[in-house]
Amino acid sequence: MKAVIFDLDGVVVDTAKYHFLAWKKLAAELGFEFDIVHNEKLKGVSRMDSLNIVLEAGGTKGVSENEKLELATRKNEYYLEMIGGIDESEILPGIQEFLKKIKEEGYLIALGSASKSGRMILEKMNLAEWFDVIVDGNLVELPKPNPQVFVKGAELLGVPCENCIVVEDAKAGVEAAISGGMKCIGVGDAEILEAANVVVPGTARLMEVNLETL
Ligand code: BG6
Ligand code: MG
Repeated sequence: MKAVIFDLDGVVVDTAKYHFLAWKKLAAELGFEFDIVHNEKLKGVSRMDSLNIVLEAGGTKGVSENEKLELATRKNEYYLEMIGGIDESEILPGIQEFLKKIKEEGYLIALGSASKSGRMILEKMNLAEWFDVIVDGNLVELPKPNPQVFVKGAELLGVPCENCIVVEDAKAGVEAAISGGMKCIGVGDAEILEAANVVVPGTARLMEVNLETL
């Protein structure tokens, strides 16, 4: 039994940019600019943890828990509005071919996403049927870099963690995979994702990775 577990935002679908734009809009309303450099820290991180990072980046202090809840809800509304019109053209390059290849090679396939919109987005992209198991932000309490999201995926698939390969674009996600005893393919900047077993610059290059020798 072997499996590949995919992160969603920035790996399967090009939605990471909409998370960024939604946080940027919220930050502007709070009176500061949120830039792409600070955004790197938000990748893979849960909604509430992301909010705390955004507030800290803007030097915003003394926000009550109730206000935080309102701000996180507002960001999510912006995000849902932004992704409302997206279609299959937002699936990242080579993902469908890679799904087809690994399925033919006998890998089980899971989603391991921090996003509460994970399942909805996969369904919207007509990709859900490729996935044997979908674990999204509704099913986990402990955010990445805690490995819970991936370990849960492995458990539901019935595959031992050491036989799982995670595909991730976030530093927190790579760390989660490795601390869960899994192999990890990083997608993006090799310096940021240094803990991964191998890093490809983009999803179009996933087909070149030899999964058996990771
Ligand atoms: C992750 C994204 O996949 O999901 C983060 O990389 C995002 O940017 C997180 O904050 C939570 O998503 P959501 O949709 O539950 O707010
Ligand atoms: Mg991601």
